[in-house]
Amino acid sequence: MSVHVQNTRTTTARIRQMAVSGEKISMLTSYDYTLARLVDEAGVDMLLVGDSASNIVCGNTTTLPITLDEMIFLSRGVVRAAQKSMVVVDMPFGSYQVSDDEAVHSCIRVLKESGCDAVKIEGGAEMLPAIKRILAAGVPVCGHLGLTPQSVNQFGGFGLRAKDEAEADKLLDDARLLAEAGCFCIVLEKIPAELAARVTEEVKPYRCATIGIGAGNGTSGQVLVLHDMLGFNKGFKPKFLRHFANLAEEVEKAVQDYTEAVKNGSFPKEEESY
Ligand code: KIV
Repeated sequence: MSVHVQNTRTTTARIRQMAVSGEKISMLTSYDYTLARLVDEAGVDMLLVGDSASNIVCGNTTTLPITLDEMIFLSRGVVRAAQKSMVVVDMPFGSYQVSDDEAVHSCIRVLKESGCDAVKIEGGAEMLPAIKRILAAGVPVCGHLGLTPQSVNQFGGFGLRAKDEAEADKLLDDARLLAEAGCFCIVLEKIPAELAARVTEEVKPYRCATIGIGAGNGTSGQVLVLHDMLGFNKGFKPKFLRHFANLAEEVEKAVQDYTEAVKNGSFPKEEESY
């Protein structure tokens, strides 16, 4: 007798269907079990274990230092939490660029050891041979074009990408190649809204979704860094970011109240004691 355990999470087929039908796709980053459970229950379509964990969780100034083992460790908690949302894991810098063999090996490790549903890889035509091998191995791939933070040192900063015609044309070509190869979605980061809308139309015939961050409203969906949209980092407010909450203030207030209660002896009360 065979036992078939049903995966209840959003599938790549569903994301493709949403891209074609025009139903908007919501994605947020997640790095731990507790918050991922809330985000999943609140109804987001996709959870991204972003390598922005390097900044958000570890306090680095770029995404470059985080390792494959660290990404797998974080992803396991998110996967345990996710009942409905698809879990996509970022392949960290250095885990897929050296050779196609290593790229396939790293992606298989992530899928096997975390239980996630797909991986995300930065880059266009130059990554295509590796992406084709990863897809052939049965690992769904989300692309990432525009501002690709793992190339920050090459770009010289985190500014808007594809402002000039040459870079915009290359991005359009890259997106088409990724979609044609079989990527089920592509993150478009910090590019002009008009270009992102063109890319979205370009890849739709391949049933490929586009997920924008700082790329306007013409994409199939949107992604934000969870801690940024929750307002955990008061000093960070780029134009594309909307604060949907101000949790930094809430956390500070709660911690101040707790500390005061401990110091003045009002916590714990008798009913809070055994
Ligand atoms: O790592 C990340 O959080 C990302 C998103 C910004 C798309 O790649």
